[in-house]
Amino acid sequence: MVAQLWKGRFQKELDEKVNDFNSSIRFDARMYRQDIQGSIAHATMLGEQQIIEPSESQTIVAGLKEILADLENGQLEIDETAEDIHMFIETELTKRLGQTGKRLHTARSRNDQVALDLRFYLKEEVETLIALMQELSTTFCQVAKENTETVMSGYTHLQRAQPITFAHHLMAYVQMFLRDIERLRETQKRLDVMPLGSGALAGTTYPINRGRVAEILGFAQVTQNSLDGVSDRDFCLELNSDLAILMMHLSRFCEEVILWCSWEFKFVELDDAYATGSSMMPQKKNPDITELIRGKTGRVVGNLVTLLTMMKGLPLAYNKDMQEDKEAIFDTVDTVKLCVSTLTPMVATMKVLKENMYQAAAKGFINATDCADYLVKKGLPFREAYQVTGEIVAFCIEQEQTLETLPLADYQKFHPTFAQDIYQAIDLVECVNQRQVIGGPAKIQVEVQIKEALEKL
Ligand code: ARG
Repeated sequence: MVAQLWKGRFQKELDEKVNDFNSSIRFDARMYRQDIQGSIAHATMLGEQQIIEPSESQTIVAGLKEILADLENGQLEIDETAEDIHMFIETELTKRLGQTGKRLHTARSRNDQVALDLRFYLKEEVETLIALMQELSTTFCQVAKENTETVMSGYTHLQRAQPITFAHHLMAYVQMFLRDIERLRETQKRLDVMPLGSGALAGTTYPINRGRVAEILGFAQVTQNSLDGVSDRDFCLELNSDLAILMMHLSRFCEEVILWCSWEFKFVELDDAYATGSSMMPQKKNPDITELIRGKTGRVVGNLVTLLTMMKGLPLAYNKDMQEDKEAIFDTVDTVKLCVSTLTPMVATMKVLKENMYQAAAKGFINATDCADYLVKKGLPFREAYQVTGEIVAFCIEQEQTLETLPLADYQKFHPTFAQDIYQAIDLVECVNQRQVIGGPAKIQVEVQIKEALEKL
């Protein structure tokens, strides 16, 4: 077990089990680079401000750079018994530099240090998440481009409702993804605030230059209240809630893919590389990826609840409870990255079974609204047209007919206005392409949606 840097007033060694219990190094070691870069910026500023000797500042910076290099090329291993990544790096620095190493922590506390490291780490992760979502959205747009004429039924209550295209359906998800990206960008603004200088809770008496540290590290602003600087974890809550919403979107899509892969639908077929078999049933091809994403959504939502519950009721400022933030938010970020990066190639390689989509659409009376609209265009009030069409649908079901196959003479029994042009009015392709309202499923409209989405991306 490594010696504690704070042991000045203590007369006994920390109990080994308590040390394990207390330690966060298993999960905060991943922030080693941010921790070192933060320390380099801090030491540089301390030297510039003459708070420590400029020569000592240079020695510390060089020492930190060496530690970073050694960690990265495997020369230095993380000590699992250290209390956390901050203590580990400072201890290592002191091992290498002696007295000079001990000057690094001047005008700093682990409370503002950990707040910095976490913001810094998550800022970079958000960039990665945005890039992954851009790839996913672009893939959706590409598949949509190939399916602007692929007629399928749109559903409400999972009942066939009205004709749309597969492209229109996919582009609905792109709208959600664009909002997900926008939310991440918003969160990014609040992550981009530098807390170092808040000290343990009450700032510091040293003449530090907080703006300079922010500048070196590439942060847009510095935090404005030292208590808030060390006790704020809104950025974790906000990011996790953005990602919970994002996962809910993926989960809805995955649920649809699961349905579409069933024999009952057979709208898509997953590439063999993205589906799995059963150990017992030789005929099976299972959409495991999508089920896992649906399942992992629960985990991300759970992490949000963990974070909210952990923060609720904590008095200002830092409390050790807050060490629990990292496992939750890291698990969320890891999970979402994994899900998005697996989903993208699955969608890119998925085979769209256009004919099956069309067949399912043709059997569902999804052009009944269009039949009613036909009568409205001929002068009937909508409610009456609705009633007449409902009676025709009931008749068709009884006669095992569809609106497309029902003879004109039968139509005319329900209303004399029906003429030969009814068949064109209820043609599914025609029904889709008549819906030219902004945001509608008509080919020309969906093409606009795709173009605008790609521009935004
Ligand atoms: N490992 C701690 C955490 O993750 C670092 C901050 C410790 N501060 C303290 N006063 N014990 O939250």
